[in-house]
Amino acid sequence: MENEKQHIGSLFDRIAATYDGLNHGLSLNIDRRWRRKTAAAMAPAKHVLDVAVGTADLTIEMLRRGKAEQVTGIDLSTEMMRIGEEKINRFFRTDDCSSVELIYGNAQQMPFADNSYDGVTCAFGCRNFSDLDAGMREMYRVLKPGGQVTILEFSYPSNRIIRWIYDLYFTHILPFIGRLVSRDKTAYTYLNRSVKSFCWGESFAQHLHDAGFSDEHFTPLTFGIATIYTAIKH
Ligand SMILES: C[S@@+](CC[C@H](N)C(=O)[O-])C[C@H]1O[C@@H](n2cnc3c(N)ncnc32)[C@H](O)[C@@H]1O
Repeated sequence: MENEKQHIGSLFDRIAATYDGLNHGLSLNIDRRWRRKTAAAMAPAKHVLDVAVGTADLTIEMLRRGKAEQVTGIDLSTEMMRIGEEKINRFFRTDDCSSVELIYGNAQQMPFADNSYDGVTCAFGCRNFSDLDAGMREMYRVLKPGGQVTILEFSYPSNRIIRWIYDLYFTHILPFIGRLVSRDKTAYTYLNRSVKSFCWGESFAQHLHDAGFSDEHFTPLTFGIATIYTAIKH
């Protein structure tokens, strides 16, 4: 677990500076729309935990929409969070962003008490966990009864033509442009592998169920390239 922490943390530290630009550019800004839809799918909650907060795009979106009054973000990459903090400061036009705190930590072993948060979110974080079930059990543990978990994650499109484009994109185009822009040889190849070897749809929802959640729902977005999952802790 210690090795994995360092590996993931340093991987995202290395690509942090180019992460937002590449995401928005390579997805033609569709990723922004996905995060807006994810925030819209959230039940309004007082204090939300944004797991794998990264550069805080989902945090900003949920605050902008009034879906959360206060947000705690947790991530293994201090560099991603540093950029996130700058964006939050710009967004609120102040250095006083007392409604947001970003904390270094592992989603699979979170330093929070049971039943601490009114809502939990995670955008494009789960597929990086070495143990998805451990991450989901942690989200369940820290969520208050009655609270909703809302997850945005890549999935695999069902249409064969879209699948072909998707494979081409993730296997060749993304790693190539990622290598060029971030100047990191391995990071975007790793991201590609983590997208393709991951579960989605029913199977992802089953993991939520196994972690203890109920009322699992999932909504595919843009031909099923990404999916929003919601579930409740009763
Ligand atoms: C693809 S980025 C997504 C960031 C952000 N949520 C977004 O929507 O852009 C994945 C993030 O997950 C973080 N991460 C990966 N594994 C983690 C873990 N086990 N615990 C905490 N953060 C983790 C990485 O450091 C990275 O910032």
